[in-house]
Amino acid sequence: MSFPPSVSRNFWGRDFDSPIMLASGTSGFGEELLDLQCLAGVGAVVTKAVSFQPRAGNPPPRLLETPFGLLNSIGLANPGVHHVLKHILPVAAGLPCPLLINVAGESVEEFADVVRVLEKSSAHIGYEINVSCPNVADGGAAFGVDPEVVLQVSRGVSRVTNRPFSVKLTPNGGDMVLSAKAAVKGGASAVTVCNTFLGMHMDWKTGKSVIKRKVAGYTSPALLPLVVARVWQVANAVSVPVISSGGVSTGEDVLQLLAAGATMVQVGTRLMRRPFAAAELMDEMKKLAGE
Ligand SMILES: Cc1cc2nc3c(=O)[nH]c(=O)nc-3n(C[C@H](O)[C@H](O)[C@H](O)COP(=O)(O)O)c2cc1C
Repeated sequence: MSFPPSVSRNFWGRDFDSPIMLASGTSGFGEELLDLQCLAGVGAVVTKAVSFQPRAGNPPPRLLETPFGLLNSIGLANPGVHHVLKHILPVAAGLPCPLLINVAGESVEEFADVVRVLEKSSAHIGYEINVSCPNVADGGAAFGVDPEVVLQVSRGVSRVTNRPFSVKLTPNGGDMVLSAKAAVKGGASAVTVCNTFLGMHMDWKTGKSVIKRKVAGYTSPALLPLVVARVWQVANAVSVPVISSGGVSTGEDVLQLLAAGATMVQVGTRLMRRPFAAAELMDEMKKLAGE
């Protein structure tokens, strides 16, 4: 790799002018962005998680701002794979950039079951398999903490699709490098590093968590160094592209992640304050590069 890194990327055999992907859960299915004209600077969009059955999601509050970040407890709310296939993907197919579908499951088999249905669509170039979901059938710990389970999920998905897929790893337990290697062994064509960090907000007057599901996913610009370290560790351990996810708020953050070994860089929470973040980050990077 040459430094400073170029913002033009080759990922999954395609050329991208921008390394920026909109992170899962922060841009719906992308189709709502069509009217908002805020796709400038976006390399690709990752959809909200899709599960086999519709999911209502968690009770409110689902979002809680903290002084330095955001807690989210959405609970993978989505209308289910059949609705997504029939009603949402035909519209999302009109996006001017590639689409990846984020897939959730409660069992090893569910990931492959969802992908099998989605194979009927041509709206997307590939998948992001969210192994941060709780493995309900096996005690509720995230699939991603056990490399053997990650291997099974990855193998199951690669049996039902020829499209590329990334396995999105969890930072909450286990060894991310071992899980990344297992994902690749199972057929993954990328790994996403990583999902949200577990966080909590206690109501000290009642001794209860403000979030009904107790723990939530925490995102914050302060997590950037944790993500940079994990991207660097994983990128040095696997031969497939690494997609970074977490902590980005400036163009310099994106360049740091590319220098650490990320091929593509996701941006999520930043979009809630700055819907045009992708274009802004690209401008910042071009200025830094003197273009
Ligand atoms: C409101 C919200 C919903 C999310 N939903 C999903 C999801 O459905 N699937 C998933 O894999 N990650 C989900 N994430 C995690 C993001 O895709 C991303 O990995 C994380 O926010 C870190 O990036 P950021 O620091 O740029 O926000 C969600 C994050 C937020 C804030």
